Amino acid sequence: MTVQERTQVGIVGAGPAGLLLSHLLALGGVDSVCVETRSRAHCEARQRAGMLESTTVDLLRAVGLAGRLDSEGLPHNGIYLQFDGERHHLNFRELTGGRQLMIYAQTEIVKDLIAARTAVGAALEFEVSDTAVSGLDSDRPVLSYTDARGERHVVTCDVIAGCDGFHGITRHSIPAGGLTMLAERSYPYAWLGILAAAPPSTDEVIYCRHDHGFALHSMRTPEVGRLYLQVPADEDIARWPDDRIWAELAARFALPGWSLTSGPVLQKSITPMRSFVAAPMRYGNLFLAGDAAHIVPPTGAKGLNLAVADVAALATALIRLVRDDNPELANAYSDYCLERVWRSTHLSWWMTSMLHIAPDQDQFESALQLAQLRHLVSSRTAATMLAETYTGYAPLRYDPETRLDAASLWPSVA
Ligand code: FAD
Ligand code: PHB
Repeated sequence: MTVQERTQVGIVGAGPAGLLLSHLLALGGVDSVCVETRSRAHCEARQRAGMLESTTVDLLRAVGLAGRLDSEGLPHNGIYLQFDGERHHLNFRELTGGRQLMIYAQTEIVKDLIAARTAVGAALEFEVSDTAVSGLDSDRPVLSYTDARGERHVVTCDVIAGCDGFHGITRHSIPAGGLTMLAERSYPYAWLGILAAAPPSTDEVIYCRHDHGFALHSMRTPEVGRLYLQVPADEDIARWPDDRIWAELAARFALPGWSLTSGPVLQKSITPMRSFVAAPMRYGNLFLAGDAAHIVPPTGAKGLNLAVADVAALATALIRLVRDDNPELANAYSDYCLERVWRSTHLSWWMTSMLHIAPDQDQFESALQLAQLRHLVSSRTAATMLAETYTGYAPLRYDPETRLDAASLWPSVA
């Protein structure tokens, strides 16, 4: 049996982008149906990002999602850059006039969002299959899916939001020629990430360039560390027993008088490194947001923050469109977001290139990396440039009630 339904916004994917979008739309009085292939438990346990820009934190606070973030998140003022046997602190808070970072895991944001949506009885379906979208260039696009009980749903929408990540179906549903740019760069290395029951050996995140390759020391709580190692792009995780991981981390982070505390490895995985941008982020009445439209390598911690930024813009634009029948912001959505996307794509490409050791790297490239790193830790101007983009680009505004015009709401659209 097929159930025919109606909603204003059909949302594909219940990652951070889809969940936050449904929350913001609801605050603006717009209905949505959000569908997700994986189980709730899977979405809540998937280890991914952890570093939030100040603009992301401000938005989550403004929309009532920061209760646990404010009590459990770890505020950070900056980062350490380590290279050539030295570790340097960059105080981004001071360099940017007060912007503070926050460590709060993506798993926790997803839990908070799911709790907020289910508390108000939102239409949020996990474990769906055969998701499809059609009629994208009409004013009644259709989202269809089979729910966990096997019942087929056909949902007529005003618009559809593709929030289904890099491997989702919405971007691929755009007909040939609908996307004018598919820009991609893959990097010749990957990150092996671990979650460990080991208290962090640092107060702030360490980005470390070492001749063996890059390493990153982050954290989740005062008891749980999150650490990463550069490994070859096609690495087999079986080659990395826990002892080898800790020995390599200790070698890359080594400094006189400092030691790395190890502990049981709770989870480990390898993530490929890729930059990808699809443009425009709209086809007809399908709007792409987050990883469905773009991905960045994790150096620079931009992926989750970009997804949140897209959705802040998209929610405001869709509320104007479907509630107020005003297409102005929806028409500006893609250009507005792509400006931030490319700036973040540049930051993450630059940090990645500066800190990783490519398989065929020569002395020239190594010397350039070190020259850039020395510049960053010795020039306030250079450090401020990094600080400004790392801590967040333009302020995220979410204000569905405002009657400001696009130029005032989003200054860069003017
Ligand atoms: P996703 O989180 O990918 O959510 C998309 C959702 O759509 C998923 O739940 C998926 O199951 C669902 N979906 C897919 N297809 C369908 C379908 N057909 N029907 C219904 N639902 C569907 N960023 C950082 O800043 N730092 C990091 O350390 C970091 N580590 C990462 C590690 C990994 C392994 C990955 C994949 C990403 C990582 N990222 C990191 C990036 C960051 O996690 C993403 O940018 C962020 O998750 C984007 O959110 P999203 O909601 O756009 O996409
Ligand atoms: C993380 O905490 O997982 C993290 C932090 C900074 C990054 C990437 C990942 O650049």
